[in-house]
Amino acid sequence: VEKPKNEMDSILSYSSGTKEREELLREIERIKKTTEEIPLIIGGRKVKTGEVIEIRAPHDHDVVLAKAHLAGEDELKEAIECALSAWEDWSELDWYHRVAIFRKAADLLAGKYRKRNIAAIMMNLSKNPYEAEIDLAELVDFWRFNPYYIRFIYEQQPDQAPGEMNRTDWRPLEGFILAVTPFNFYSIGGNLPTAPAMVGNVVLWKPSRSVIFANFEIMKILMEAGLPDGVINFVPFPSKWSDVVLSHPDFAGLHFTGSHETLVKLWKRISENITRYKNIPRIVGETGGKDFIFVHSSADVKAVVTNIIRGGFGYQGQKCSAVSRVYVPKSLWPAIREGLLAELPRIKYGPVDDLSNYMGAVIDEGAFKKIVSYIEYAKAHPEEYEIICGGHYDSGKGWFIEPTVILTKNPKGKLMTEEIFGPVVTVYVYDDDKYEETLRLCNETSPYGLTGSIFARDRYAIVKAEKMLRYAAGNFYINDKPTGAIVGRQPFGGSRWSGTNDKAGSWLNLLRWLNPRTIKETL
Ligand code: ALA
Repeated sequence: VEKPKNEMDSILSYSSGTKEREELLREIERIKKTTEEIPLIIGGRKVKTGEVIEIRAPHDHDVVLAKAHLAGEDELKEAIECALSAWEDWSELDWYHRVAIFRKAADLLAGKYRKRNIAAIMMNLSKNPYEAEIDLAELVDFWRFNPYYIRFIYEQQPDQAPGEMNRTDWRPLEGFILAVTPFNFYSIGGNLPTAPAMVGNVVLWKPSRSVIFANFEIMKILMEAGLPDGVINFVPFPSKWSDVVLSHPDFAGLHFTGSHETLVKLWKRISENITRYKNIPRIVGETGGKDFIFVHSSADVKAVVTNIIRGGFGYQGQKCSAVSRVYVPKSLWPAIREGLLAELPRIKYGPVDDLSNYMGAVIDEGAFKKIVSYIEYAKAHPEEYEIICGGHYDSGKGWFIEPTVILTKNPKGKLMTEEIFGPVVTVYVYDDDKYEETLRLCNETSPYGLTGSIFARDRYAIVKAEKMLRYAAGNFYINDKPTGAIVGRQPFGGSRWSGTNDKAGSWLNLLRWLNPRTIKETL
């Protein structure tokens, strides 16, 4: 089987004067002028419930992108019935019939619907065109690489011996999967329901309510690609109805990305319901991070500055992988500080439909208030924190927060240990001769374990960091930012509070949605 090429390597340019830019701007204008009514999709049917929420552009309170219907108890029950009835045929289908649909969806997304979807991501998630396009490319990659891994998985068969014939029957789970998807990556929105579906499962998809508009574009593409009715049901619903799904006897698994707190809550509900289920459900959850850049005195200062900025402020710091704390040796701090102070004020932020803005708004009022509370906490504690850059915010037109760098004297403090999920990076300066001690401290103050980077030219320093931070990051980067994992190349996920580490963008994730049967025949 030929390995697919990463769409991530074919990013287009939107520089002025290009046809791509004109098309993208046209799509953005079309989106701004219309308010789409978004139904649920249950068993392939559009369902309107009357319980409707408005989806607005995070960077412009006046732009209403959509009015979206939410599911209630009856619709969720109906969606479960539709999924279970779709399971009968879908779970029996040969792998190539299933993956053909997702490979077609990948082609539609990479081609015909590329600009439309980039524009939808920009307007709904408030990503700049580059961030929007890498997000789209990642979903194309998931839809091309997962079929490639599936074929390898199905080819895995047990050993034979004289007189016997042994086989593995790669069954999907017996029941339905709930996919709960986050606001910050359209690609995760698309991957969480489709990865289980590709290996024969049926799914209820609960997208984040902030991004129903962009996520519905994914659902439309799947339907156009020929996904049979009921295999994936698009059912945003208020969490008060979670139990309708989580107490159902046929609930077979949760594919989740979101906060640590929400995963814990769902896990507890599932454990409380455990005796109701026909199967012990699979739980795959990716949550947050308190991701770091650790700088050794041998590091290249320019690379450190660039990667703090790209890793910390790309998509306004709202990636679970975003740089949030930085450890810098005293000898390099003056140069790194100077570099940050030279570059950060040049970062443009504002509405992303002005393509020159590098940063857009944060996703909504809740996120804005939470991030601002950390900035205000730092301002209120000058004995511990010094804002060296940024620190301003403005919610007049949209949820805007300036890229902010804060210096701390306390490596165990609130800003060095709690997830902020916004454009705030906290720096701790350590004595050069306390490298090992500070690595140990970094590890011991990491309740999360998602991503992290070491910047060093000294090979022994790199080795030390790799060893001492072994569990502090599930994705560990050497002389690179800790964001931007590519499907197939950097399987993604972390442990500790960051989740179950079932590596998205690899065969490991797909195995979780399979329930293999061993068959022995005596010859
Ligand atoms: N997979 C995303 C990244 O690596 C979160 O940045």
